Order: sequence, then structure tokens, then C-alpha cells
Amino acid sequence: MRALVITLAFSALFLVPLLGGPLKPEWIELSYPFNSETIYWPTGVSFEHTKTMQGFTDDGYYYSAYDIRASEHGGTHLDAPNHFAEGKWTADQIPLDRLIGPAIKIDISSKTAQNPDAQLMQSDLEAWEKKHGQIPDDIILLVFTNWGRHWPDKKKYLGTDTDDIDQLHFPGIHSNASSWLVQHRNIKLVGIDTASVDYGQSKMFESHRIFYKENIPGLENVANMAQLPAKGFTVYAAPMYISEGSGGPCRVFALLDCA
Ligand SMILES: *[C@@H]1O[C@H](CO)[C@@H](O)[C@H](O)[C@H]1NC(C)=O
Ligand SMILES: [Zn+2]
Repeated sequence: MRALVITLAFSALFLVPLLGGPLKPEWIELSYPFNSETIYWPTGVSFEHTKTMQGFTDDGYYYSAYDIRASEHGGTHLDAPNHFAEGKWTADQIPLDRLIGPAIKIDISSKTAQNPDAQLMQSDLEAWEKKHGQIPDDIILLVFTNWGRHWPDKKKYLGTDTDDIDQLHFPGIHSNASSWLVQHRNIKLVGIDTASVDYGQSKMFESHRIFYKENIPGLENVANMAQLPAKGFTVYAAPMYISEGSGGPCRVFALLDCA
């Protein structure tokens, strides 16, 4: 009997790989590392990483400990609703279940290829729904403009490497799409692969105000979105836990659903 059990267990070991075995989870990094190349808003403080202590101590063991300094809004980061909406959630007040969950990707890269000022419109959302079905409730919605291909070239990514915000050119979300989303759908988090949910030429930041008034936080400078499908994945966003923060650096990653 014992021999039979061992034989069966042994064959199972060899059969599993033959049958393809358990599916391996596929994780996708959606953040940029923080370093001297990290892109910040022209008026922001860029990431400073001071290697204060590095080397062998007098007692003979190795030790490293550094200092960091930066604006909340740079690199891959979270916009708390309070960034543009008084009385709405600060970074530390956003419930965790708003930062993790099933997600979809809306691809407007064909529009942005020729026009850095292109924006997501209601019609793009309707075109996605025609193909993939209605945008589900409590979804995380990512907008793919393919702007990440310019990272970390600040001039190409922002449209300028000067401090002149009038020269900013990059795609974003038009108020036509953000107002339709808050009126007709129920998304819990929005993300984009540019420096801002509003396009570079925006002066009034309409989509920031429309989303954040509804306590829908934003993710900006999301990386590697080209690797994501249109649907069938879970997004995890883990922002720095800053009391009263208007936002902050954020690790964002995705897990693809097993096919
Ligand atoms: C978006 O623009 C289209 C085309 O101009 C218009 O028909 C639609 O009503 C607009 N949607 C919103 C929510 O403003
Ligand atoms: Zn921001």
C-alpha cells in the first residue's frame, strides 16, 4: 500500500510538468524607480538621495543609510483627492480597497502618436465598451497614451525641460470623458502614463477637479502600460502613507489573470 502511494505521488511529480503544471502568476511592474532621472513637475523638488552613510564601520561591519527628499508629485505617484478638492481624502485617508482591485486599460495611443495634445474623450470610452462590454463597477481605469516611451527624456515627456508651464505638451483626460465617467460609470481609481490626468496645455485642471471631487484618486506617471491587456488584471497601488498628504510616491504593479 505504502509503495503504491509513493509510486502515485512520484508519478504526480512528473505528470504535473507534462500537463503544463500550475500556472505561474505574471506580475507587471507599473512604476518607475526613484533616482536622479525621475521626472518632476517643473515647479517641484526633484528626488534627492544623499548617500550619507556607506561603508565599513570602525567595528568592521558594513552599513548603509541614506536621506531622501522630494515633492509629493513626481515620478510614479498618487494624487489624493484632496490635491484638488477641499475636504476630500488626503493620502492617509484613502481606504485600502480603493487602491487595489480589478482594472481595465483604455488605449488612445493611436491618437497621441501624431498629436501630443490628444485627450481621452467620451467616444473613446464608448469604443472600448463596444469591444469589451460595459466598464464594470468599482474598477480601476488606466489610460494608455504610450507616453512612457519618452521616459526619462524630460523634454519629450513633458514637452519642455524648462520651468515654463505654458510649454507643457502631453496627452491627458478631457473633461468630456471625466464628467461622463463620474455621471454614468462607477470607477474607484484612475491612472495615466503621463505626468498629469489633465493634458499638458490644461490651465484649469478640469479632470483633476471632476474626479477628486468624487473622491476618485489618481495615479500619474504609471510605467510599462504597454505590457497590459485591455482587461483581465488586478492593479495594486501602494502610496507612501503620509499624514495629511496631498499625494505621494507610489509603488504600482499588476497581476494578470490566469487565462
Ligand atoms: C462629449 O462630447 C460629445 C461630442 O461633442 C458630446 O456629444 C457629449 O455630450 C459630451 N459628453 C459630456 C459628458 O460632456
Ligand atoms: Zn500629482
